[in-house]
Amino acid sequence: MTLKGKTFLISGAASGLGESTARLMASLGANVVIGDILDNEALRVAESIISDGGSASTFHLDVRNEPDWIDAVNFAASRYGALSGLVSNAGISGMIPDVMDTEYFDRLLAIHARGTFLGIKHSAPAIARTGGGSIVAISSIAGRVGTEHVHMGYNAAKAAILLLVKSAAGYYAKDNIRSNAVIPGWMPPMRTSVSSADPELRPKLLKSVPLGRTGLFPEVAEAVAFLSSDAASYINGVELPVDGGFLAYRAFS
Ligand SMILES: NC(=O)c1ccc[n+]([C@@H]2O[C@H](COP(=O)([O-])OP(=O)(O)OC[C@H]3O[C@@H](n4cnc5c(N)ncnc54)[C@H](O)[C@@H]3O)[C@@H](O)[C@H]2O)c1
Repeated sequence: MTLKGKTFLISGAASGLGESTARLMASLGANVVIGDILDNEALRVAESIISDGGSASTFHLDVRNEPDWIDAVNFAASRYGALSGLVSNAGISGMIPDVMDTEYFDRLLAIHARGTFLGIKHSAPAIARTGGGSIVAISSIAGRVGTEHVHMGYNAAKAAILLLVKSAAGYYAKDNIRSNAVIPGWMPPMRTSVSSADPELRPKLLKSVPLGRTGLFPEVAEAVAFLSSDAASYINGVELPVDGGFLAYRAFS
């Protein structure tokens, strides 16, 4: 698999899964633009990719903000000549103590659902000008099933991402843009997670995973890179779980 000569804008790539994805895509030959609100962390990731021989740059992007998306897409396309794809990954956790907090519901929808919508809206025309490419958005197992300890706004927002991507798979097929979703399972806790970092809760969460362990960011990044690559040239509109079997099987012991 290669991404040589391609350019990807990756939201939320200053840490966690986005960082891992940026590192992998750069190692496969891509130029990666790290779009995040954490400017210092984004810079640290870009400098580390460059010192490993890769190509990376940063752009301040708050995914809720439409002008930020316009500027980030323009930056990526003009810096590297053309935009090949988007990875819509930025997010905040649903695992907070008050899973019925209304203000947090609005934040979840704004970052995950509005953020992914805006990313698709503004990257698709630039990718079309390149002659086609890929959009990958990061959902969650919580976008497929309601989950104990998870704010239901997170469930709703992650489910919205699955349908945004399917709509995009149809809307932009004429421009040779494929749109797909990746569904990570239980991963290392997000920066904003409170309850999933609880050492007492984690073994209980992992009982729901046939493989019996937490997923690793590089394991999910592989799926994102594959869907973003020409190796996936006829894959459009899918939801790819990378969840150790969580969505496939229920154990009763
Ligand atoms: N970690 C998990 O357990 C898990 C499981 C399933 C899905 N996911 C999803 O994977 C994606 C990445 O999560 P992660 O585990 O790497 O978490 P993380 O907290 O390490 O990374 C999230 C990144 O998004 C950025 N971000 C947050 N709000 C933003 C905004 N408004 N604009 C731009 N950037 C913003 C953060 O600064 C951070 O760099 C998220 O969409 C998350 O919902 C995570």
